[in-house]
Amino acid sequence: MLCGRTTRRVCSGSNVTKAKWRYKKNARSVSTTDSLAEKLTEEFAINLKRHLEENRYTNADKAFKLILEKLDADTRVDALQYFRGIHAVTEAFTDVPGANKHENQRILAALNDILSQAHSECSTASEPVKIAVTGACGNIGYALIFRIASGQLLGPNIPVQLHLHDVPAAEQALLGISMELEDCAFPLLRGVKTFTNPESAFEDVDYALLAGSKPRGKSMERKDLLRGNATIFLEQGKALNKSAKKSVKILVVGNPANTNCLVLKSNAPNIPSKNFTCMTRLDHNRALYQIAKKAQVNIHDIQNMAVWGNHSSTQYPNINHVLINGTPATEVIKDPDWAVKEFIPTIQQRGASIILARGASSAASAASAIIDHMRSWVYGTRGEWTSMGVISNGEYGVTPGICYSYPVVASGGQYEIVKDLQIDPFSAECLEKTHKELLEERDAIADLLS
Ligand code: LMR
Repeated sequence: MLCGRTTRRVCSGSNVTKAKWRYKKNARSVSTTDSLAEKLTEEFAINLKRHLEENRYTNADKAFKLILEKLDADTRVDALQYFRGIHAVTEAFTDVPGANKHENQRILAALNDILSQAHSECSTASEPVKIAVTGACGNIGYALIFRIASGQLLGPNIPVQLHLHDVPAAEQALLGISMELEDCAFPLLRGVKTFTNPESAFEDVDYALLAGSKPRGKSMERKDLLRGNATIFLEQGKALNKSAKKSVKILVVGNPANTNCLVLKSNAPNIPSKNFTCMTRLDHNRALYQIAKKAQVNIHDIQNMAVWGNHSSTQYPNINHVLINGTPATEVIKDPDWAVKEFIPTIQQRGASIILARGASSAASAASAIIDHMRSWVYGTRGEWTSMGVISNGEYGVTPGICYSYPVVASGGQYEIVKDLQIDPFSAECLEKTHKELLEERDAIADLLS
C-alpha cells in the first residue's frame, strides 16, 4: 500500500501543479485537445491527489469507474481521451522525487489496464470473438452462456460467436439452449453453433472454457473423478491442438481441474504452455468473502489474497500477505487462531459444503468465477493479485510442468506469477502438501500424458 509519509510528500500542492503542467505538455503529444477530456483530467488530478492523500489505492480505481459510468455511449470517446490524460498525469507523478515508485508502478499498471479495457470497450469491433464452452448443457454452462452472450465477459461492444459443445446425448438440449439464446435477442451475439465433436467445436476459437466433465457427488474427493474425466481432456487436448487458434486462451473448470489441465496441455503441444490455466478463482472469491465478513469490510478493501496449489481440499488459501485497506489482515483480524482453525478449512471444504447443502455442485458461483478469471486475464488485474492455476516453471520449488495455483497479476492479456514472496514454515508445509498431491495425481494418469 501507499506509504503515508511518502504519499504526502508526493502530493504536496506544488507537485500536483507540476504534474498537471507536465500532463498538459504530454497531453499535446497524445493529441488531447477536447475540452471535456481536459476538464475530466483536471478532475482526475484532484481525485488522484485526494486518493494519494487518503492512502487508498482503490479510490483512484473507483474514481475512474464513476466518471466513466457518468458518460453515455456517445461521449465514450472523450472518456478515452480522459484515460490517456490520467495516464499522462500518473506518469508525471512517478518522476516526482521521493515518490513511492512501487506504488506508482502499481497505479500505472492499473491505468494501463483501464486504458486498454476502455479501448476495447469503445472500439466497434466487427469480427466476433469465438468462444467455445464445453459442458454447455450442464449447470455451469447454463449459468455461463447467457452472461457471455449479454456482454458480461468481454464488455458491451465486443460481438461474440458461441461454439457450444456437449456430449451426443445432450444434442436436443443444445438445440433448446440455442433457441433460448435466439429468444434473448442479444445485440452482441453474432451466431451460435452447437457441436458434439470437440475438434469442430474448437475450430478457430479465441477462448476455450472447459466446464464439461462428470461432477463429484457427496462424500467424493475431486480426485475420485481423475481417470474418467482425464480421458475427456486427453481428447479435447488433441482437438484444441488441431483446430483452435494458437493464441487460444484456455480455462479448465472440470475437476480435478489442475490435473485435467495438465492432461490437456500435454496433448496440445502446438499451443504455448502459458495459454493453459485452471480455475482457482472460485476459491479466491470464496476467500475474499470470508475475509470481508470476518473483518467487516467490503471486498474491494482487500488486496493480495493468494490461493496456492491444487483446487482440492489440500489447497492453501494464504492470508499472510493480505492487506485490508493497507493494513495486514493479520493485524486487522484480531483472532490469531481464525486463519488455521476456521478460514483455511472453510475454503478447502466449501465445494463439498455446497454439494451437501444443494445436492449438486456449485454452478452459478463457478460461472461467475469463470467470468472473473477470464476478464482478469484479458483485461488485466490493475496491479491487484488474483489466483490462477498455471503451468509451473518451477516457481516456489514446484515441479516444472504441473498445473499449480499461484498468486498472479495480469496486464495486456498476459499473467505473471507474483515473485519473491516470503514463505513462512507453516506456509511452506502447506505448499508442499498440495504439491505432493498434484504429483500423485500426475503419476496416476501418467499414461495419458504424451
Ligand atoms: C467447487 O469448488 O465448488 C467445484 O469444484 C465443485 C466441487 O466438486 O467441489
